[in-house]
Amino acid sequence: MSEPNTITLGANPAGIERAADILGDGGLVAFATETVYGLGADAHNDMAVARIFTAKGRPQFNPLIIHVSDVEMAERYVEFTPEARALASVFWPGPMTLVLPLRAGCGLSPLVTAGLTTVGIRIPAHNEARALLSRFGRAVAAPSANPSGRISPTTAAHVSDGLAGKIEAILDCGACDVGLESTIIGFDPAPSLLRAGGVPREAIEAALGTQLAIRASHDVINAPGQLLSHYAPDAPIRLNAETAHDGEVMIGFGDVEGDYMLSTSGDLVEAAANLFQMLHKMDTIGASRIAIAPIPMDGIGAAINDRLTRAAAPRD
Ligand code: TXA
Ligand code: MG
Repeated sequence: MSEPNTITLGANPAGIERAADILGDGGLVAFATETVYGLGADAHNDMAVARIFTAKGRPQFNPLIIHVSDVEMAERYVEFTPEARALASVFWPGPMTLVLPLRAGCGLSPLVTAGLTTVGIRIPAHNEARALLSRFGRAVAAPSANPSGRISPTTAAHVSDGLAGKIEAILDCGACDVGLESTIIGFDPAPSLLRAGGVPREAIEAALGTQLAIRASHDVINAPGQLLSHYAPDAPIRLNAETAHDGEVMIGFGDVEGDYMLSTSGDLVEAAANLFQMLHKMDTIGASRIAIAPIPMDGIGAAINDRLTRAAAPRD
C-alpha cells in the first residue's frame, strides 16, 4: 500500500459499501462529516492507524477521535459519566466530541489514543458518514483530512489537493455544513471545554446547568500521568543502540537484530504500528533495562523518535 491510487467514491449505497470494504482491508478513506472531512482508518487496525500519521505527515502521535454510528456502538468503547450521557442525549449526533475513559479490552489500537486511557468519541450528524460507520460496524479513527499544519478540508477537492496519492479513497459527499471542527469536552472530573467548535459553549452550559471549565486539549494530553509517561516502560531505555549491553532487552529494527523487532524489514509504518504494544510488553516481561535500535527520522520515523525520546527521558 505504499503509493495508493486515490479513488473518488460517490455518496450512494455502492460507494459507501466500497468505502467500508476499503476500511476493512486496512485502507484509508476520507469521508465527510458535518464539521470537516475526516481521514478515516479502522480504529482496531494498528497498521491502518499508523498510516494516518504518514499520510498527514504528522511529526507526533497525537490522540485521534473515534467516530461511531450510534450510542450502542459508543458504549463498546467508553464508560459514560452521567454528565457525558446527558450531553450525548442532547447533542449527538452532532459536532461534539466527548473525551471519556476507555473501556478495557475494547480492541482499539493504542495508536488511536497515543497511549492515553481516555479517548475522544463522537457520532457525526451526517447521513453518509453514519451509513458508512454502521455498515463498517466498528469505530473509525479520523483526524481532519489535511496534511499536518494545513487547514481542515470542507470539500472532497480540498482533501484531494492535500492527500491524493496518499490514501485509498475519498467518499465525496459535497461540502460540509458546519465547516469547523467539533467542540471537545473532557470530564476530569468536572466537565471542561478542551476545544471550541461546532456546538457553542453556551448551549453546552445550558444543557448541563453549570459552567464549563476551560482547558486546552494539549494541557490535558501533557498532564502528568497522561501521554508523556503512560506508555513509558518501567525500565530505563537506551536509544540508538547497535547491540545490547549485558542485562538489556534489545528491541531491533531492520538490520539491527533484537530480542524483539519493531520491524524486521525496516518498515517505519510497521514499526509505528508495533511501538506502543512493544513498550507495554517490556513491562509484561519484566525487562530491567531496554536498548532500542536507531530508527531513521524519515516520514513517520520522526513521530516514533519523538515518542521514544519521551519514553527514555528521566522520570520521577
Ligand atoms: O470535527 C472534528 O472533530 C473532526 C472530524 C473529522 O470529526 N476531527 C478532528 O480531529 O478535528 P483532529 O484529530 O484534527 O483533532 C482532534 C483533537 C486533537 O486536538 C486531539 O489532541 C484532541 O482532539 N484529543 C483527542 N483525544 C483526546 C484525549 N483523549 N484527550 C484530550 N484531547 C484529545
Ligand atoms: Mg485537525
